[in-house]
Amino acid sequence: MAREIRTVAVVGAGVIGAGWAARCLHRGIDVVVTDVSADAERGLREVVSNAEPALNQLSLAPRKEKGTLSFTTSLAEAVSKADFVQENAPEREDLKRNLLAEISKHAAPDVIIASSSSGLLPTIIQADCTHPERVLIGHPFNPVYLLPLVEVLGGEKTGPQFIEDAMAFYSSIGMKPLKVRKEIEGYISDRLQEALWREALHMVADGVATTDEIDQAVIYGPGLRWAFMGTCLTFHLAGGEQGMRHMLEQFGPALELPWTKLKAPELTDQLIDRMVEGTQQQADGYSIRDLEQLRDNCLVSIMQSLRSFNYASGNVLKEDDERQYEQTSGSTEWADGDDLSRPLDLHGDKVHPEWVDYNNHMTESRYLQVFGDASDALFRYVGVNAEYHANGNSYYTVETHINNILEVAAHEPLRVTTQLLGLDDKRLHFYHRMYNSKDNSLLATAEQMVLHVDMKAGKACPAKPEILNVLGKILDAHKKLPAPERLSRQMMVPPPK
Ligand SMILES: NC(=O)c1ccc[n+]([C@@H]2O[C@H](COP(=O)([O-])OP(=O)(O)OC[C@H]3O[C@@H](n4cnc5c(N)ncnc54)[C@H](O)[C@@H]3O)[C@@H](O)[C@H]2O)c1
Repeated sequence: MAREIRTVAVVGAGVIGAGWAARCLHRGIDVVVTDVSADAERGLREVVSNAEPALNQLSLAPRKEKGTLSFTTSLAEAVSKADFVQENAPEREDLKRNLLAEISKHAAPDVIIASSSSGLLPTIIQADCTHPERVLIGHPFNPVYLLPLVEVLGGEKTGPQFIEDAMAFYSSIGMKPLKVRKEIEGYISDRLQEALWREALHMVADGVATTDEIDQAVIYGPGLRWAFMGTCLTFHLAGGEQGMRHMLEQFGPALELPWTKLKAPELTDQLIDRMVEGTQQQADGYSIRDLEQLRDNCLVSIMQSLRSFNYASGNVLKEDDERQYEQTSGSTEWADGDDLSRPLDLHGDKVHPEWVDYNNHMTESRYLQVFGDASDALFRYVGVNAEYHANGNSYYTVETHINNILEVAAHEPLRVTTQLLGLDDKRLHFYHRMYNSKDNSLLATAEQMVLHVDMKAGKACPAKPEILNVLGKILDAHKKLPAPERLSRQMMVPPPK
């Protein structure tokens, strides 16, 4: 059975190592980072804190407490504590081969050792390892904390089960693992990126285009399509109604023309200067950290809009959110014999620091989020789960009335209870109470009406009998409870007498 991954060792704390650390910490995994340079810790902590705003914006799904970050220059200390090792040292075959061998001496024999290598062959870099069957490639993309793709492949000595376990781990931290079937240099993505990159360098070297013009040629055109349809499906559409076959007939002859060079140009001093000066001009005085923030914000926007289409990286995000909802609080399902003599206690959370406003109190929209999460917990409890949604049915909120009772500060632990008030085959009426779970003070309440819908038809329809049956049992029990104190309140300033 695969180990539970509680602590990840990150070896090498540059761009990629720090990105892995940020992703894992955000997922509640403890991370111990090691680097030969003690200075690496400063950059690491900077990247981890720079990643936070984008990660917080990306998803509202409830998540575990953040993991703890520690740093050591001792490789042995870091990897001997780990349940999973991710190596991110510079891309040199001899260095990686020796480093992986050293890691394998100190890591427990069943601990997966994954290398972030961009294109080295796993068979070669695992060659001197003890227990080489758990050594494999997990090739991510920068920024690792946002981009879902991780290419996974093993060498001749890698055990297939370790590949599966690594893929399962990467999925559990919100990634899209792609198994590379054949052990090739550069894997799939870097082979593609490298072809484009070589052509770009040729064009700069030959004075055909500046770095800025090359980037314009991508970002205003093909780059927009690549984020959701890639190259092959995009070209299927380029063939009109007949799709790929017509595309190949029409553009096939171009494959014979000398459009591309593919063999890389020589990296002369002049070419290096042109690349550096060109990109410096494009950066227009913005620092790398500024540009990273801009990139992160754009990536979050793209992934969130794709989420609304449930497509490409948006689909990864959506499925990951659903898993998080199921794994954190509120994943209980109704069972005969449950105590229904009190309001249901299905959802807990805590006030995340980014939820508070300038007054240092939980901001308006987060009340709705917490109550919404409690409603989701109720739905899952009665059987309205991912499978039910996949069959085209759900409950949609039609009305919510929130009463704020006490101020809520950052880090306060929350619990929400739910009392059912009314039910017919399409409508469900209930009342949430949000408490501080430590001192049990009542913080806020929300009365909600939700409507059962056929999502495809976009209209109300009766809920399935098994759902109505469970809801009916809960309602029968809750009818015996006193009516909530703020039920059906109206807002108004009484007119002067
Ligand atoms: N930069 C990218 O976009 C990218 C993308 C995917 C994969 N990768 C791969 O990730 C790996 C790391 O790349 P990077 O861009 O983060 O490099 P980097 O130069 O930013 O960082 C490398 C880090 O490794 C440390 N290091 C050197 N020798 C070490 C050793 N023996 N033990 C521990 N730490 C050591 C260095 O001090 C440095 O902090 C490479 O294999 C690279 O191919 C990079």
